[in-house]
Amino acid sequence: MRAFVALEIPEEFEADLVALARQLGASVQGRFMARDTYHLTLAFLGEIDGQGDVAAASKAIERACKPFAPISLHADGLGKFGKPDDATLWLGISPTPALMELANSVRAELTTAGLTYDSKAFKPHITLARRAKLSKGELPALAFPRSAHAVRVTLFKSELAPEGATYKALKTIKL
Ligand code: 2AM
Repeated sequence: MRAFVALEIPEEFEADLVALARQLGASVQGRFMARDTYHLTLAFLGEIDGQGDVAAASKAIERACKPFAPISLHADGLGKFGKPDDATLWLGISPTPALMELANSVRAELTTAGLTYDSKAFKPHITLARRAKLSKGELPALAFPRSAHAVRVTLFKSELAPEGATYKALKTIKL
């Protein structure tokens, strides 16, 4: 199964993201993500092998999260991956020391547990749209989410489908 570890987005921040995505949708074409799919990935595991790996990853994130209090999320501007006519459009999140340390801790414990993950440098972001077409025109004035505390780190299973992936929580740790 395909799996990743992510911070769940607090409800009030999620509501502000919905408003931001709606504002963006007025000038940007793309496949906007459903509200219940918003998350901030800490480590992308890719394919893992059934229950043994799920148990190992669950224990690893439990150990990794133990010293952490809730993590403050601060919006840090829009960004994109990919080409302007086929982009992943995201909201950046400030790389605060606590957030960076949490991602490092999760990644280190996964390694100790013998699990591998995409080792690209951690760039905190929440994907808002895929297949976005970004024209050179100006974006409207946008209201960014107000800061909020994230309290849940979750191991998700990702199921790919033509209309977009769906995510199922396998294990959640409360900060
Ligand atoms: P993205 O939103 O920027 O694509 C599930 O796919 C989650 O894992 C998404 O948040 C995705 O980030 C992230 N992710 C990180 N590395 C990935 C990779 N190599 N392939 C797919 N998703 C990856």
